[in-house]
Amino acid sequence: MRMYDLIYTKKLGQALSAEQIAFWVKGAADGSVPDEQSSALLMAICWQGMSTEETLALTLNMRDSGDRVDLSAIPGIKVDKHSTGGVGDKTTLILGPIVAACGVPCAMFSGRGLGHTGGTVDKYAAIPGMKVELSIDEFKESLRSTGFANSAQTGDICPADRKLYALRDVTATVESIPLITASIMSKKLAGGSDALVLDVKCGGGAFMKTLEDSTALAQSMVNVGKAHGMKIKALITRMEEPLGWAIGNSLEVIESVEILKGLHGESDLAQMSFRLAAEMLVLGGAATDLPAAQTKVAEVIANGKAMEFFRTWTTFNGGDAKALDDFSRLPQPGQVIEIKADRDGWIHAMDSRALGILAMELGAGRQSKDDLLDLGVGIRVHKNVGQAVRAGELLYTVYAKTRTSVPIHRYLEAVHLEGLLTPKNPWLLGTIE
Ligand code: URA
Repeated sequence: MRMYDLIYTKKLGQALSAEQIAFWVKGAADGSVPDEQSSALLMAICWQGMSTEETLALTLNMRDSGDRVDLSAIPGIKVDKHSTGGVGDKTTLILGPIVAACGVPCAMFSGRGLGHTGGTVDKYAAIPGMKVELSIDEFKESLRSTGFANSAQTGDICPADRKLYALRDVTATVESIPLITASIMSKKLAGGSDALVLDVKCGGGAFMKTLEDSTALAQSMVNVGKAHGMKIKALITRMEEPLGWAIGNSLEVIESVEILKGLHGESDLAQMSFRLAAEMLVLGGAATDLPAAQTKVAEVIANGKAMEFFRTWTTFNGGDAKALDDFSRLPQPGQVIEIKADRDGWIHAMDSRALGILAMELGAGRQSKDDLLDLGVGIRVHKNVGQAVRAGELLYTVYAKTRTSVPIHRYLEAVHLEGLLTPKNPWLLGTIE
């Protein structure tokens, strides 16, 4: 078999066979297929797409390129959640303790942040002492002992995805529905959970900018999950402004803890986290329908069980649980700078991508994958889309290392002000199951 023929076939828009896809994935992972040929094929896939059968074959070959986690010895339906990535998205820190406190085993591998989006693992790392990289045995032990396991990807899961993702990142081939589907679903299937709730983001700050593309991605991932016997449901959610008030690792821990303690319950972030948790409870068999699940979620917030679970789980993983009640124990910034509106108006949009990049430049995120983070820096966003502001009103508090690193005009440009109120879209744009 020759890679040249695979590239040529896909360039013409024709389907690759399962054998051809297996040949490519194996060759990409073991280095026998050169990067330039993989890159050319990735670009051809971006333009020509893949059929459902091809996407399934790509997912399975990527899943089987490395270790698989066997959670079958742990009782119960193990549930997982995946978000396609957003700015300020800390839903995992909120829903994990809720789902576990409701008795459903919750097993999640999470990523580190890259570019304008943050990573769950980096947020946990802001809690002093917290172990965020578990071996597969430690991951299983956390799940068995506490009912919750959440770690950076461990062992050698999906090395073919690692290789292909690195190539996609530098060849402008990330935004492809079959490639995103195979990349995410191969890791989810290798992670060993029985059920999965997907949060597919839609909008300026997301991979998928339109409802049509987000729906197609959600449908593609649901198809692959179902083909493998997974219980799966996708929510399509808006990413037109940062999720919640916090961007940056210590700040995001604080906001998550506040929601687990019952604050900001009406915010989009809380409502989205509670809904995702409720969907996980339904798939995990702890509730017969969504309203029953939502009642359970509200109970563990109101009676403090979800927060208590977060403290216990933090201690189990070596973290300083006192930092969840005394935020001065979390990493702190060097400077606090207030940025105020320069004119009156209604907030029509907030460029979450631009704010994610500003947070990354402060040191909250990585420009390249080996960058070290400054866990105490970040941005507090004081206003939301749909609100009125007056000149001189506080828009952001920036927590920086130094004052000179803050380009104030770019913060102001990220808020799009209009003379008239424009209605805000709801955070939930659709569901696919
Ligand atoms: N996240 C992944 O893991 N893979 C993609 O392709 C996109 C987002």
